[in-house]
Amino acid sequence: MEMRIDKILEKAINTHSLNENEILELLKTEKTDTLFLHADEIRKKYVGDAVHLRALIEFSNYCKQNCFYCGLRRDNSSLKRYRIESRNIIDLAKKAKDYGYKTIVLQSGEDSYYTVEKMITIISGIKDLDLALTLSIGEKTFEEYKAYRNAGADRYLLRIETTNEALYNKLDPEMSLKNRMQCIENIKKLGYEVGSGIIVGLPGQTLESIAKDIIYLKSIPVDMAGIGPFICHPDTPMSLILYNSSPTSEEKENSSDSFELSLRAVAILRLIMPDINIPATTAMETLNPKGRLIALQSGANVVMPNATDTTYRKYYEIYPGKICLGDSPSYCRFCIENKIKSINRFVSTGKGFHIRQRGH
Ligand code: 5AD
Ligand code: SF4
Ligand code: FES
Repeated sequence: MEMRIDKILEKAINTHSLNENEILELLKTEKTDTLFLHADEIRKKYVGDAVHLRALIEFSNYCKQNCFYCGLRRDNSSLKRYRIESRNIIDLAKKAKDYGYKTIVLQSGEDSYYTVEKMITIISGIKDLDLALTLSIGEKTFEEYKAYRNAGADRYLLRIETTNEALYNKLDPEMSLKNRMQCIENIKKLGYEVGSGIIVGLPGQTLESIAKDIIYLKSIPVDMAGIGPFICHPDTPMSLILYNSSPTSEEKENSSDSFELSLRAVAILRLIMPDINIPATTAMETLNPKGRLIALQSGANVVMPNATDTTYRKYYEIYPGKICLGDSPSYCRFCIENKIKSINRFVSTGKGFHIRQRGH
């Protein structure tokens, strides 16, 4: 068995291509140290030691969707909702630029308050600052995606969450996997850099399904892939399905499994998509105080520090225990740079676009 893992890793390093069974073996392997080490080497070879920072502005926590796992779901009435006005969003981006960020990520729930007209004002205001801009505002029509792209948005993040149709339908009863895949195709067609990704450790999710997700991300092919562990939110139907009451110690242990598993998924993606951008996600640091640094040493090359005003942070509660809730945008910028330096890496001075290497 161990021989087989070595063979798979050798194939991954030489060809950057693995089939579903091989990915499955790597998701199961106990030789994680070797997997992470190889992913770290490939990361260094293809994208170097620079870490790209993306300033995340969480501008509205209203959402018309009702995903079973997410704290922003519309039926969560215990959440205080907020929206940041267009000019204040642009001001936050200006401040982020002053702190040295070169890329802004605008994220919100699916909030129709921000009409296409409003979004165009925000997008052009930020593009006037000479920053790269990523949108992460959910499923829209082709025409809407086109309007944002024409206004200057460079990248779009839309996680597929899971490619398992039965699981998808269970977790997003009013949404469809087909439509989400169509959205991702539309984003690609419009010339955005495409970011997608998955949640790892969803109840009912199998390793086979994660292997298929990884193959899907490669088939797009995505320019960025965000992998985050599932963290149960007590005010969502997921907590009823999962626990009925508070988590047992065994269930708590499962969350460390999803940390490990997310890390394996990050490493495998790096092996088979060696030049893409892979963030060390905030959810990983929620489960492990060194989560982002560990991810950066297992294949990741991007961090998305929070640049939202401190007053709003606690309300953007997708899942509980989010990091940096009491910290300011300037503090997070300072903190993350120090952390990055502590592992002998450095903050990139560029905008961090995906640069395709020959042959991939
Ligand atoms: N745990 C982890 N990640 C979650 N997301 C939503 N709910 C949770 C949760 N409970 C992720 C989804 C979404 C992103 C913004 O947050 O993948 O795309
Ligand atoms: Fe809304 Fe996204 Fe949360 Fe679903 S995951 S409820 S679409 S914010
Ligand atoms: Fe926010 Fe460290 S990145 S406190």
